[in-house]
Amino acid sequence: MKRILTTKDLTLSYEKQAVVSELNIYADEGDCLCILGENGSGKSTLIKSLMGLIKPVGGEIIYDGVKRSEIGYLPQQSAAQKDFPASVYEIVLSGTLARSMGFVKAEHRKEAEKNMELLGITAIKNKSFAALSGGQQQRVLLARAFCAAKKLLVLDEPVTGLDPLVSAELYAIIEEKNKKEGLTVISVSHAPERACHSASKILHLGGGGAAFFGDVNGYLESEIGKKYLCADDHHHHSGERRKVL
Ligand SMILES: Nc1ncnc2c1ncn2[C@@H]1O[C@H](COP(=O)(O)OP(=O)(O)O)[C@@H](O)[C@H]1O
Ligand SMILES: [Mg+2]
Repeated sequence: MKRILTTKDLTLSYEKQAVVSELNIYADEGDCLCILGENGSGKSTLIKSLMGLIKPVGGEIIYDGVKRSEIGYLPQQSAAQKDFPASVYEIVLSGTLARSMGFVKAEHRKEAEKNMELLGITAIKNKSFAALSGGQQQRVLLARAFCAAKKLLVLDEPVTGLDPLVSAELYAIIEEKNKKEGLTVISVSHAPERACHSASKILHLGGGGAAFFGDVNGYLESEIGKKYLCADDHHHHSGERRKVL
C-alpha cells in the first residue's frame, strides 16, 4: 500500500497558542481516516494545514503522489458561506477549476453533471446557492469536492446539522467513493459510531495532540475510544443534542 500523506512532528498554532503539537500521523491510498475530538481540539486547524491554508510552525506535511489540484475539500460550514452568489451548477463546476485552470471543457462539464446526479441536485442546477436549504447546500459543496477529488477527499464535518436520513444518505455516497472507487478520504466526524463503521484509521485529537491514532479495532479497545463511544451512545439514546462531541 502506498503512503500518500505523512505528518512529521507537525505543530500548528495561532499567534503563540499551540493547537496541535508534534503530530505524527499518516494515510495510505484507499484509507478512510476519521478525525474525532471535542470542539476546539484542533480538527479544523489540522484539516486546513493539510489543505495548505495554515502554515505549520513546526514539523512538516509530506504528500507522495498527490498534487494540490487533485484534492477535493469540503470546509466546515460557516454562516458567511451561506449567501454565496452563484448557481448550483457554477459552484459544482468550480470543483474542476484547479485542473481546467479556467478553460472549461466538455469533460469538466460532464464531471459536474455526473456529481450533481450522484447527489440528487440536477433538478436544482440553475437555482441560486443562497436560496437553498442547509441540506441542499451541503449536497452542492460535496458535489464540488467530488469534482476536485482525483486522489484525495478532505471533509470537515460533512453532515453536521443535517437530519439523520440525509446524513445517512450522504455518508453512504462518501463510503461508496471510498470503498468502491478506492478514493482516499480524510473526514472530520461528530459521530464516532458512524466513523468507526466506515473508517480504516482513527485520529482522536485531544490534549494538544493525538490522544489516539491507529486502526479502528485499536480505537475500540482504547480507553479514550470506549469513553467516547459510550458518551455517544448515551446521548443518542436519550435524544439529547450532543455537547461535547
Ligand atoms: N483563526 C483563528 N485564530 C485564533 N484561534 C483560532 C482560530 N481558529 C481556531 N482557533 C482556536 O484554535 C483551537 C482549535 O480550533 P479548531 O481547529 O476550529 O477546532 P475544532 O475544529 O476541533 O472544533 C480552538 O481553541 C479555537 O478557538
Ligand atoms: Mg471544526
